[in-house]
Amino acid sequence: MPLNARQKEMLKTMGVSLWNTRLDVPELKISSEITEDIGVDIKIQSEHPVDVKGLEEQKQFPVIDWQLLQNQVQTCEACVLHSTRKNTVFGVGDTNASWMIIGEAPGVDEDVKGEPFVGEAGQMLNQMLISIGLSRETVFVANILKCRPPNNRDPHVEEVAACQSFLDQQIGYIKPKVILAVGRVSAQNLLQTKETIGRLRGEKYFYRDTNIPVIATYHPAYLLRSPLEKRKVWQDLVLAKRIISA
Ligand code: URA
Repeated sequence: MPLNARQKEMLKTMGVSLWNTRLDVPELKISSEITEDIGVDIKIQSEHPVDVKGLEEQKQFPVIDWQLLQNQVQTCEACVLHSTRKNTVFGVGDTNASWMIIGEAPGVDEDVKGEPFVGEAGQMLNQMLISIGLSRETVFVANILKCRPPNNRDPHVEEVAACQSFLDQQIGYIKPKVILAVGRVSAQNLLQTKETIGRLRGEKYFYRDTNIPVIATYHPAYLLRSPLEKRKVWQDLVLAKRIISA
């Protein structure tokens, strides 16, 4: 649906087209009036309300020792990627976070630094978060893979399988109120599907057999190439924020 002048102005005000710095972004108020105004089609499956208290009881994952998990990732040799990595990339952020952001795999910058999303895509991710009033420190950021695939190729099935229990343990420990899957590889693996990211985004799913909601959206690196898609990402972020506040 094409935007009218008022809607465009509202998006601009909210920093959607520019991913403005935090100082430029007014306090975000997600009311139905605003979402209608900017043409956001929020779909929440009300038949599956998010029972945050129930997450504890229903979580499927074993209780783990976070430090032990970090050590296990650091010394992991379960797949071939250990032989080419400079560093493992465990993940970073608040372990009490409501939001967990899950990307694909470390790139060259992340491999050097041992931290996820520190390159150009990371800057864009930070701007995405700022646009809905979140800072990177208040979320937990991780990847499907903890080691960099050479030449940034797609992860192989056996590499994802080797890393799966690390991610499951992270999710089980953090118990996020929402998982934001950024990019095709993340979304397809978290949701166990071959569907395109364009079709997956904009809807609420659940992580495997838990009641942890998953929202899929475009990868920040894609936004660097296709800035016009920022609006859709913002809509997905608004959807995730509404799920948390529901
Ligand atoms: N892209 C990702 O998916 N993850 C990172 O950590 C960096 C780039």
